[in-house]
Amino acid sequence: MNSILITGCSRGLGLGLVKQLLVTSQPTKHIFATCRNPDKAQELNELKTKHNNLHIFPLDVTNYASFDALVQQIDEIVKDEGLNVLLNNAGISPKSTRLNFAKDSDLRDTFETNTVAPVMLTKAFIPLLKKASKFNETQPMGVQRATIVNMSSILGSIQDNQQGGMYAYRMSKVALNMATKSMSLDLKNDRILCVAMHPGWVRTDMGGSNAPLDIESSCNQMVQTIQALNESQNGTFIQFDGKALPW
Ligand SMILES: NC(=O)c1ccc[n+]([C@@H]2O[C@H](COP(=O)([O-])OP(=O)(O)OC[C@H]3O[C@@H](n4cnc5c(N)ncnc54)[C@H](OP(=O)(O)O)[C@@H]3O)[C@@H](O)[C@H]2O)c1
Repeated sequence: MNSILITGCSRGLGLGLVKQLLVTSQPTKHIFATCRNPDKAQELNELKTKHNNLHIFPLDVTNYASFDALVQQIDEIVKDEGLNVLLNNAGISPKSTRLNFAKDSDLRDTFETNTVAPVMLTKAFIPLLKKASKFNETQPMGVQRATIVNMSSILGSIQDNQQGGMYAYRMSKVALNMATKSMSLDLKNDRILCVAMHPGWVRTDMGGSNAPLDIESSCNQMVQTIQALNESQNGTFIQFDGKALPW
């Protein structure tokens, strides 16, 4: 792939994905790492001093009014080649999880960041994704053309829900899964591939210290899985290592 844009790269999986993309055997020409406060993203800024293919842009994914200017800036860099991959990673998970602690503000805020924002950002980047798909029209579907990866969670699986709770988070991710499926159908004729991806349970600020996977292992496998995506996976829910998950 020539180019990828990732949201939420200040820490956790977003930062981990950037690190893996910088060391993978198939180098990416442009890595657009976005985060809310670039000035505070120290590790990301350090990486930038060593890697010319890393571009950092400020982006709060709920600031929809800022999207057009970002799209324009990216367009000026990628030009006719378009944007190959949009990875909607930024997300939140509120602390209150059981039904008697559910707060309407948590439900709304989580839906805004985890579901509304990825749909709106995807909408804004469709012209650049289409451009990339067209530019590489002799290639099969996948990251060589154009791909949308929505960072989901197994907690958004209805079939896998054995423990209940986590209303805001589970609801936001199951809705993101549905958005992913619709995108995969709506963008099929443009040969833009869409998947919902579960990164595993990972030791980040969100995943906590009991999680079995470290950031490097999850991100290393996610990068390999993303690079190898093919048409048969369009519109599916997969985990970091490519294994299919139940909706
Ligand atoms: N860790 C896991 O076990 C796990 C499992 C399943 C799914 N996931 C999903 O993986 C993604 C990343 O999670 P993580 O574990 O890396 O979480 P994290 O360590 O809490 O990091 C979350 C990232 O999202 C950013 N973010 C939050 N709201 C934002 C906004 N409005 N605009 C821009 N950026 C925003 C944060 O930026 P700031 O630094 O500015 O707050 C941070 O960079 C999420 O979508 C999460 O739901 C994680």
